[in-house]
Amino acid sequence: MLKEISIEKIVNGGEGMGHIDGFPVFVPMSVPGDELEIQLISKKKSYGRGIIKKIIKPGEERIDFPKFTEEDFHGCNFAMLSYEAQLKYKMLLVSDVMKKIGGVSDAYILPIIGSDKEINYRNKVIEPFAYGQNGEIITGMFKRRSHEIFQIDKNMLSSDLSNEVINKVKKILNKNKNISVYNEKFHKGILRHIMTRTNSQNEAMLVLIINAKKIPDEVFALLKEVYEEMDQVKSVYISLNDKRTNVALGNSQKHLFGQRTLQENIKGIDFSISPTSFFQINLEQTKKLYEVGISYFNNIQDKCIVDAFAGIGTIGMILSKEAKQVYSMEIVEKTVADGLRTAKRNNITNVEFICGDVNRKIQELMKDEKTIDAVIFDPPRKGIEEETLRTLSSHKIEELVYISCNPSTFARDSKILIEEGYVLEKIQPLDLFPQTSHIELVGKFTLNKSEVTE
Ligand SMILES: C[S@@+](CC[C@H](N)C(=O)[O-])C[C@H]1O[C@@H](n2cnc3c(N)ncnc32)[C@H](O)[C@@H]1O
Repeated sequence: MLKEISIEKIVNGGEGMGHIDGFPVFVPMSVPGDELEIQLISKKKSYGRGIIKKIIKPGEERIDFPKFTEEDFHGCNFAMLSYEAQLKYKMLLVSDVMKKIGGVSDAYILPIIGSDKEINYRNKVIEPFAYGQNGEIITGMFKRRSHEIFQIDKNMLSSDLSNEVINKVKKILNKNKNISVYNEKFHKGILRHIMTRTNSQNEAMLVLIINAKKIPDEVFALLKEVYEEMDQVKSVYISLNDKRTNVALGNSQKHLFGQRTLQENIKGIDFSISPTSFFQINLEQTKKLYEVGISYFNNIQDKCIVDAFAGIGTIGMILSKEAKQVYSMEIVEKTVADGLRTAKRNNITNVEFICGDVNRKIQELMKDEKTIDAVIFDPPRKGIEEETLRTLSSHKIEELVYISCNPSTFARDSKILIEEGYVLEKIQPLDLFPQTSHIELVGKFTLNKSEVTE
């Protein structure tokens, strides 16, 4: 059934919202001021959801108005907005959740730091394989709430080199026609996903994820051809994944050609990155993010600092240039191994790498009565366990810097820290993910003086 709606605002999650007969309806890819014809696709007790069928009149901030689906915009749910408007709505979304969930006013929120690069900023890409309409092998993205894949020749977010590598692989596959595409329904076929990592030196790592227990000869030959023909491809892996799963990478990564890791330099430190390691996807914005986070410490010299949820230890190793001691905590073993390799190559000796769950390991440090002057947290989207947050003030940890990729959990955790005696001094939003509704931010907390002298 088609209905008309005027979009009033953008809500958390990035969808537009309007009312039909007084009933709120959420519409992906819609913009405030849009007058739309939509199809209702679900109706719950207190709200509904609809998809755009026709734009009757576009909102002022909408660009490319004949385009309106996620497929039109390569899966990017904010790409129908001008970049200026994207930043404006990100600020509003932060302010909204901080008020509603954290009880924190706008006065603490600094203007968002935008990205110089609005497209082609991603240094890691994973695309699934499929067959196109003419039986050719394609890669792309899943359509909204579907297992159908649409082809993208030049993904707008990926680095140019990444697009080149993926297109080269597809070209050889379609020339040789000797490797099948995985079919998840029947759990048959070989090619599952292609992953690329690229760096600022225009070098690439290629990882082919296949449904097999060992490497078929024709897959080995394909990757050898890509490695030999593309100078920029410095590292090639196969990931064996024969499980019925939505997780792309398998448990076993086989190194085939070139280097084992890709290198990236931040602040004069050469970081080694493996296929499975976490590394921020937008390098230039990440440098700004780290600069902001590190500048939030009043003083680094002679301090003992925990880098919690450390990944390969990027932030901790930058801090180690001035700090007395850094504890770098990360749960993924291979990622910790990358950190150790990086520290060794860069002669860094004052970072202790601790592999395990931050929520346990930070307690252990406290129990061992190790000095902790400050902590920098950078958790995944689910944020930090309440128990961890509640023990920090009793150990008189004076400074906390909290990097977050999810304003809702950041707001929830801020509320707990404030209850525990911390003062939230400022929040700096940054745009690490242009064209999408994702938001990154950094918060600075200091322990209330009365709690320190108690
Ligand atoms: C958002 S990333 C941040 C990484 C790093 N700070 C950076 O900028 O590259 C979060 C990291 O926390 C790790 N992680 C997730 N849960 C964890 C836990 N409970 N304890 C320790 N590390 C965890 C993930 O493997 C990932 O490397």
